[in-house]
Amino acid sequence: MRIAVFGAGYIGLVTAACFAELGHTVAVRDIRSEAVTALRAGRTPIHEPGLDTLLTRNADRLSYTIDADEAVRGAEVAYICVDTPPTAGGDADLSRVFAVVRSLRDATHLTAVVVKSTVPVGTGARVRTALDRVGLRHVGYASNPEFTAEGTAVHDFLHPDRIVIGTWDEQTAACVADLHKDVPGTIVTLDVESAEMVKLTANAFLATKISFANEIANICDLVGADIVAVTRAVGLDQRIGPHFLKAGVGWGGSCFPKDTLALKQMARNAGHSPQLLDAVIEVNELQHRRPVVRLRAALGGLDGARVALLGTTFKPGTDDMRQAPSTVLAARLLAEGAEVRCWDPLAKLPDTAPWSHVSRSPSPAHSMAEADAAVIVTEWPELLDVDWPVVRPTMRTPVILDGRNLLDPATMKGVGYHYLGVGRSRLPH
Ligand code: UDX
Repeated sequence: MRIAVFGAGYIGLVTAACFAELGHTVAVRDIRSEAVTALRAGRTPIHEPGLDTLLTRNADRLSYTIDADEAVRGAEVAYICVDTPPTAGGDADLSRVFAVVRSLRDATHLTAVVVKSTVPVGTGARVRTALDRVGLRHVGYASNPEFTAEGTAVHDFLHPDRIVIGTWDEQTAACVADLHKDVPGTIVTLDVESAEMVKLTANAFLATKISFANEIANICDLVGADIVAVTRAVGLDQRIGPHFLKAGVGWGGSCFPKDTLALKQMARNAGHSPQLLDAVIEVNELQHRRPVVRLRAALGGLDGARVALLGTTFKPGTDDMRQAPSTVLAARLLAEGAEVRCWDPLAKLPDTAPWSHVSRSPSPAHSMAEADAAVIVTEWPELLDVDWPVVRPTMRTPVILDGRNLLDPATMKGVGYHYLGVGRSRLPH
């Protein structure tokens, strides 16, 4: 089939590359001319494992443009994959979605318009009305949310647990299912509103699991239990499962913070007070700030202290800094008078505060030289290869706050570190 994909961000590019890999012909449209120029020149503007390979291998089935009309020319399906960032009030900003819908007014040959962007429930109905108004009453509508995680997005797209297709008519459902006919995974067809709710619910549930693990970790710290041992045993219960129970410095990224906020706001707008969601978000905000409290206690104050942040991206395997816990941490450390350095193998560090006041080191060891403490913020595998016994004497004070429970506490203590994990020791507070 011929598909037009709107948006060349993480979701749009992965969607386009994977559909091309499945044999479809895909035109990608983005309003950022620099992204289109880069893609035409064979450069991928984002880091996502496997994406480059797919874009190169299927180059003859892929094209890039800033022109909406050109993108939809001859296309049967238009996929909307633009971003829906939170507004100041916490609602999702849908202006880009509707701008795409307006740009489709002449695409009367389309069979279906599909929204993949994460949107509040009810958006499909609004898009339906907008399509009707621009004369596309006969074009089907579908919600086809994505569940891909950064760093594994290509694999997740091609090997999903399920493909969720929300429509109001069987014909459109069959059309979207057909696009995925070579993809394994259960196809779930349901109404549009429920499909929109599935995405928000899945992300809110995963965020809840992590906040729950973080809360238990904080209790473990006080009572002398080990969160890693606790969650390992608890996760073996098939009703609970082992995933998304890793305690740490809290969740970040482009989805969980935005989607939990959007769900909360949506509930409020509908007249419901979402108390559990409120707590999930609050626990996460506290978790972002907790390393500062612990460092302040371990170092007897932070003014003049040198702190190395090991890893700055919101998770390993990506260059993405969106809503990264490291940003909260860097800002708070600087505000308390600490000198902050960082190391990260991939991060696209913003040139704004707090990062404009943080120096970047070429290696973990370099960032820790003469430092009073190092905080593992992102569990990059490179940190397992650091020669920790060699680094220790280069530090002014050998304090390691392992915000991801990456290292072995006994080994680190054995080579002379003042090692603090998350939920693995009795803590000063
Ligand atoms: C997430 C969802 O997994 C994906 O299905 C959805 O489509 C988009 O949002 P992503 O944001 O790429 O994907 O990353 P994910 O791996 O889910 O991690 C999100 C955050 O949770 C990261 O900050 C990560 O460090 C944190 N996390 C994850 C934990 O703190 N503990 C865990 O056990 C798992």
